[in-house]
Amino acid sequence: TRVEKAGYKHFMAKEIAEQPVVIADALKHYTTAEGTLRLPEGVDFTGVDRITMVACGTASYACHVAKYWFEQIAGLPAEIDVASEFRYREPPLSPASWALFVSQSGETADTLAALRYANGKVARVVSVVNVPTSSIARESDLALPILAGVEIGVASTKAFTCQLTVLALLALKAAHDRGRIDDVALAAHLDALRNLPGLMNHALSLSTPIAAIADDLAKAQDILFLGRGAMYPLALEGALKLKEISYIHAEGYASGELKHGPIALIDAAVPVIVMAPRDGLFDKTVSNMQEVMARHGKVLLISDAHGVAEAGAGAWKTLTLPDMPPVFAPILYAIPAQLLAYHTAIAKGTDVDQPRNLAKSVTVE
Ligand code: AGP
Repeated sequence: TRVEKAGYKHFMAKEIAEQPVVIADALKHYTTAEGTLRLPEGVDFTGVDRITMVACGTASYACHVAKYWFEQIAGLPAEIDVASEFRYREPPLSPASWALFVSQSGETADTLAALRYANGKVARVVSVVNVPTSSIARESDLALPILAGVEIGVASTKAFTCQLTVLALLALKAAHDRGRIDDVALAAHLDALRNLPGLMNHALSLSTPIAAIADDLAKAQDILFLGRGAMYPLALEGALKLKEISYIHAEGYASGELKHGPIALIDAAVPVIVMAPRDGLFDKTVSNMQEVMARHGKVLLISDAHGVAEAGAGAWKTLTLPDMPPVFAPILYAIPAQLLAYHTAIAKGTDVDQPRNLAKSVTVE
């Protein structure tokens, strides 16, 4: 089937806009209206001692977010690695562990090789894929489709948030199986996830102010993204998205690492994008942000209304996202990260859907 742009200027714009719908589809598929999970029978974490998640690029950042969820919600030790390192490092794997491979295409050469390495060494090889007929899906004991629909833009957008959604459901299943959360807590978490499509629509409505900010970002040579906790991988993803399509050098850092090097880069020419919902670590991130502002760094603070009111003074720009439980906020904060990259690329006039040197699916090493 031919996928069209449906009135959008780029596939990426269409795919960003589709997120509320595809996330709702994925949630409908894997949960019930009564507030329970509907995952395939094999998804049972009883007796599982560890989960090792492996992927490349954006999919690896989804794993990185999920590490926080598996550890914090389920109390399950979780490891992550990029497939190109994992496959050659040949790490010892516990026979009671699961290995989980995340891939939009299901054809990424390194991820497939990593899967083949894990096969036979772990209790279960599970994959989270967008293409259910792909090699990675076929070679897994269990493949969970993310139901994002065809993704054409080289810069992954809706696949990332759908990967996060399915990983969040897996972490909740692990938490429930391990007695970390009861039925009531599970239903409350699922309620929070079900609010996502509405909140994402709100985030998408920020496209115009984001485009105005992007006009300025397009003039920068270097941009830093900062985040803490599960927002740290979002900083990595925001930086990757921006460099892929706008060709501006960008780096994501854990906010607490700022003092250990990157702060040397800060001057009035370096925009610093701080992704910080008002969670338990908010004050710490704010103090990192103030260190940037004290060195005349241009801070864009992305937070909720409370966060912006509390810490927005002195920032170059602010973006206010709706409130949501901080644990799943990375799924929502992906949208401004994607829109910033998109509009910066538009301002620079680069080829958004087909950026130079990149392939949608890296099927050769
Ligand atoms: C994302 O914007 C990238 N183009 C890239 O990092 C991608 O996520 C990576 O190549 C993994 O691809 P996969 O999900 O198809 O395995």
